[in-house]
Amino acid sequence: MQEYPNVFVFDHPLIKHKVSILRDKNTGMKEFRELIEEITTVMTYESMRDVELEPVEVETPLEKTVQYRVPEESVAIVPILRAGLGMVNGVHRVFPTARVGHIGMYRNEETLEPQEYYCKLPEGIEEKTVFLVDPMLATGGSAADALDVLKKRGCKKIKFMAIIAAPQGIKTLSERHPDVPVYVSTLDRELNEQGYILPGLGDAGDRLYGTK
Ligand code: PRP
Ligand code: URA
Repeated sequence: MQEYPNVFVFDHPLIKHKVSILRDKNTGMKEFRELIEEITTVMTYESMRDVELEPVEVETPLEKTVQYRVPEESVAIVPILRAGLGMVNGVHRVFPTARVGHIGMYRNEETLEPQEYYCKLPEGIEEKTVFLVDPMLATGGSAADALDVLKKRGCKKIKFMAIIAAPQGIKTLSERHPDVPVYVSTLDRELNEQGYILPGLGDAGDRLYGTK
């Protein structure tokens, strides 16, 4: 985005198609979960363009050649609980050996302030490329606090991925963490008074897990 150089909004027909089904209130839990996973996989392909590769020697049936691979153990996935859990399999399809850390955050329904309630991160995460994932970037408070947690732990290479973002969340993240690349599949119009994204898709955690 011109105003925020670290923010990448996907403009891909496949993502648009899938997000339109995701938003539909008649889309059931199973399809919702599958769509979140599929969209995340496509976003991961795009957001890993600058991931470091290491040279490896490969012997084809004809000759030896030097090729490039993502080093084992170089990537970690950190979902913001609960809804971020829905994106983990989508990243795992691309990086099947990535370790997973968890940061638990819930928004106080009145103040919309995030509260951290859980944090467990894999050993050595400081050296890895970390994909922090949460489908919804609303006020931006939860993602910005989760980034604080990761940075305090020493993480230096972090990417944040969300499926739907509000302008306020983009602004908050860009101000608090201008160094972190932010990948969103869709930028929506605004937040309502309860902090829900419009047009949005409702409560992502409830739709993933059948609560409410
Ligand atoms: C949702 C969502 C984000 C947060 C976004 O989680 O998954 O974590 O809200 O809002 P923010 O940008 O204003 O902080 P919620 O607090 O509803 O918890 P849940 O995932 O457990 O349902
Ligand atoms: N969290 C959600 O799940 N949905 C929103 O619209 C905003 C925050």
